[in-house]
Amino acid sequence: MDEIEAKIEGLRSELTQHNYNYYVLSRPTVSDREFDRLMKELEELEKAYPQYADPHSPTQRVGSDLSKDFEQVTHRYPMLSLGNTYSETEVKDFYERTERALNGQPFQIDCELKYDGTSISLWYEHGRLVRAVTRGDGTRGDDVTANVKTIRSIPLKLMGDTYPDRFEIRGEILMPWEVFEQLNKEREAQEEPLFANPRNAASGTLKQQNPAIVASRKLDAYFYYLIGENLPTESHFDNLEYARRWGFKVPDVIRRCESLQDVSDYIAYWDVARKNLPVATDGIVLKVDSLLQQRHLGFTAKSPRWAIAYKFQAERARTRLNSVSFQVGRTGTVTPVANLEPVLLSGTTVKRASLHNADIIKGLDLHIGDHVYVEKGGEIIPKIVGVDTGSRFMIGDPVEFVKSCPECGTALFRPEGEAAHYCPNESGCPPQIKGRIEHFVTRRAMNITMGPETVEYLYDEGLIRNVADLYTLKAEDLLKLEGWREKSVSNLLQSLEESKQVPFERVLYGLGIRYVGETVAKRLTTAFHSMEELAKAPFETLVETDEIGDRIARSIIDYFADEKNRELVTRLESYGLQMAVSEEKLANRSDKLAGLTFVISGTFTKHSRDEYKAMIEQHGGKNSSAVSAKTNYILAGDNMGPAKLEKAQKLGVNIIREDDFLNMLV
Ligand code: IVH
Repeated sequence: MDEIEAKIEGLRSELTQHNYNYYVLSRPTVSDREFDRLMKELEELEKAYPQYADPHSPTQRVGSDLSKDFEQVTHRYPMLSLGNTYSETEVKDFYERTERALNGQPFQIDCELKYDGTSISLWYEHGRLVRAVTRGDGTRGDDVTANVKTIRSIPLKLMGDTYPDRFEIRGEILMPWEVFEQLNKEREAQEEPLFANPRNAASGTLKQQNPAIVASRKLDAYFYYLIGENLPTESHFDNLEYARRWGFKVPDVIRRCESLQDVSDYIAYWDVARKNLPVATDGIVLKVDSLLQQRHLGFTAKSPRWAIAYKFQAERARTRLNSVSFQVGRTGTVTPVANLEPVLLSGTTVKRASLHNADIIKGLDLHIGDHVYVEKGGEIIPKIVGVDTGSRFMIGDPVEFVKSCPECGTALFRPEGEAAHYCPNESGCPPQIKGRIEHFVTRRAMNITMGPETVEYLYDEGLIRNVADLYTLKAEDLLKLEGWREKSVSNLLQSLEESKQVPFERVLYGLGIRYVGETVAKRLTTAFHSMEELAKAPFETLVETDEIGDRIARSIIDYFADEKNRELVTRLESYGLQMAVSEEKLANRSDKLAGLTFVISGTFTKHSRDEYKAMIEQHGGKNSSAVSAKTNYILAGDNMGPAKLEKAQKLGVNIIREDDFLNMLV
């Protein structure tokens, strides 16, 4: 492989990883700007060296947010993205390009804000919302109609009578800042992972299987693009005016500009004023107003030639790196944190920034005392994006990753292929012990009414050293503690008592065995009906279990191989916690569906998809997401995807409705 080919391949795999982090994990690790820069570099190399072309290169697609839990539908009009620009010079280039392509004809440019959420396409027929689809891969998207219907600002029935019989409207689903901050506060208290920004929170919410959760998250939606055969006018601006009258939330900050100067003024104004808006924006969108001219200008494979986005600069500040400290998390991960000379950035004072891991520190070539650039790229925690090496006067010590745990002194290790360092002293390292107890008491585990401060306090007072110690807490000990009264003591003791009824699967989840999250805990308790059975299961049996791979199996074996853990479980059992699946649950299980594989498709009225999935498993059946020759039944609800239907008919798979399925269980 020559140098150029290696460079191209390197960029492709880097971009593929970023795409995955962004669309699948909702956890981007680079800014949009950096992503665009890498993409542009790859595009240019591919153009200059066509011999290395590859139809699977990340340049050949627009990215995808498709998920297997929803029906997929083909867009009537492909959902393209916009070309990005980062400077006014590039905006000027766009303006002049448009001027030339229109042979000097007069034209107007509509300026709008670029809302930073997740895009949605709504289809209306006879004034009623028929379908809501995500962008997906641009050609096909997920049908999220049930979820979208919970968004109050989206009209289900339109007002007036000037709307076309059929049309599509596109917009952005957004989570307002205020809702986002509140949601993250709640998630922090529940020890659930935080959303990095409102965009991820909005797209994560929209992909929820339970519309009731979507409804509770208070999403909003702004609209900016009307498409169809019989639109009211030939002007984008005027069409949006109409859409506003039909009941859509069309932002009124849109402006029809007559000149490049008007466009520049709009950019200058909103770059500052946007900070007071209730939702996140990341730029400005410029669109040629006349639909006739839009048709003349047309599209490239990825974006329209009649529109472009101007992205705002992420806010950046320069400050001094005073020191680096290292924090130890619940699972022993050690995270480096930069302590900075306080500096004002986007309206808040920044004192700390995340450095993520040893590779990032090395990549930045950080030295104590360096002047660094800090950015808030839509993420909550600011990050260091570069070092002002030019201003290094007296070079300080290079920042080194610690070799031993800052909390307990144990030597750290870094597993092969991972970027993180861990402290292995699970049972003796205070933040790990406290973290495990905090996890055990959370709502989704044992639901014990005790916050992280109380755990910290009880630990510091020497009253708890592990989760079993919680059950030996006595009223008289607690009453001696500062600020504790009869009421708070009795509440805590009662909640501990109630936790003894929490089902086995949540007890298992609460133990905090690495890789055993809620879903894995459920799978395990379906196959192993008691803690005793699970603890005895050999590796080979564990990996035969549905969805349990080598990594999880190894972690379970390691957990029970440790005598301290076995003792802990024995103690918990002696205090009366549920260590087996209840008789009642077992009695409800059957093998009525044993050997049968189901694919669930569409939306249902009597139970949710998740409930049907659980029923299938409870009765010995298997769930699968794709129709194949192995599928025995398709459980079809409303709006079953046409592709699935066609495939099912071709393969002769039985298609059954909700009632037929429920009859199979009686
Ligand atoms: S117009 C064919 N207008 O930006 C052009 N898009 O990178 C259709 N976006 O997928 C898009 N605000 O999710 C348009 N005022 C606006 C927008 C906007 C945000 C998003 C949208 C789109 C992405 C393009």
